[in-house]
Amino acid sequence: QTLKIAAIAGDGIGREVMPEGLRVLEAAAQRFGISLQIDTIDWANCDYYQQTGAMMPEDWKAQLSGYDAIYFGAVGWPATTPDHISLWGSLLKFRREFDQYINLRPVRLFDGVPCPLAGRKAGDIDFLVVRENTEGEYTNLGGILFEGTDREIVIQESVFSRKGTDRVLRFAYELAQQRKRKLTVATKSNGIAISMPWWDQRADAIGADYPDIAVDKQHIDILTAHFVLQPQRFDVVVASNLFGDILSDLGPACTGTIGLAPSANLNPERDFPSLFEPVHGSAPDIYGQGIANPIAMIWSGALMLQFLGHAEAHDAIVRAIEDSLKQGPHTPDLGGQAKTTDVGQDIAERVRNA
Ligand code: NAI
Ligand code: MG
Repeated sequence: QTLKIAAIAGDGIGREVMPEGLRVLEAAAQRFGISLQIDTIDWANCDYYQQTGAMMPEDWKAQLSGYDAIYFGAVGWPATTPDHISLWGSLLKFRREFDQYINLRPVRLFDGVPCPLAGRKAGDIDFLVVRENTEGEYTNLGGILFEGTDREIVIQESVFSRKGTDRVLRFAYELAQQRKRKLTVATKSNGIAISMPWWDQRADAIGADYPDIAVDKQHIDILTAHFVLQPQRFDVVVASNLFGDILSDLGPACTGTIGLAPSANLNPERDFPSLFEPVHGSAPDIYGQGIANPIAMIWSGALMLQFLGHAEAHDAIVRAIEDSLKQGPHTPDLGGQAKTTDVGQDIAERVRNA
């Protein structure tokens, strides 16, 4: 059947990397006989906000609900629009309203990419961070008491529902089962004495269904140290919203440039469209020069095809990225002089010949 994709380029380099992402998707569709319908959406960007006073039309949810996935560039143009407006008015609405409760970030070191960790080579680092994306530490529950006095108290609650916790843990166990059967559970049950021991218990309860998975619970403080010192230990790492936020930035930082890092915001049941986007933002500092690295966008497209059932197309794109990083043109963030389109064309060509 035809896969319906909504392509939202957004702002800044989102507009430069999106065409390269689409170029590679179309090459993969052609090579693997996938029928794609890609519709370009010209809202959810700061120009639209400047013209209309809103980031998106009122019926945005109805307009997007029929799609299998949203392929998203980056949003934000601080020169005209405050970041909290652009982000809360678009991306965060998608994540919440479409119940994209999994944030998945692959962390992988490629040949041809300078690694900030000494002595690491391609193959040493290859794991997935699974972040809970809808609840946990990020809530609006709380307040400030006795404000402005010396008795001032601020309270911010966390929310861990059994449903919300179990579903992210189960997703991580399932992923681990498809990989090396190793799951690291981020915790802090020594210091956060109510929610985190409970989180650990839920990890054990769900784990009862996966007796063949080796589970390692690690406190978030030492876990961050291990990301840097022993990244080869990890296969699948699951974490709450806050801990996952930290780990999913630290992971890609350990493997080179942000221009490579992809992410998926998933609603695994497919009740709603999932969203696939590079980790990076709109990079106003380099926008307009045509030098943004398109690989994060391209890899995010591969994750989208994988999620929608086309594993072989995903694998071919990732192999093409691997080969291109080894032998092909490099953008300036990787020390080269290539343009965004040079890299996109090189990878698309490799996918066509896969
Ligand atoms: P950023 O990720 O846009 O840029 C950080 C640095 O990395 C910049 O020096 C930039 O040139 C570089 N960089 C980013 N992507 C690159 C690529 N593909 N190739 C080469 N270099 C790249 O983060 P920043 O500057 O904090 O935010 C800029 C805007 O983007 C803000 O409006 C922010 O709110 C928004 N943003 C949006 C995100 C999203 O749409 N998911 C995520 C992060 C930021
Ligand atoms: Mg973050």
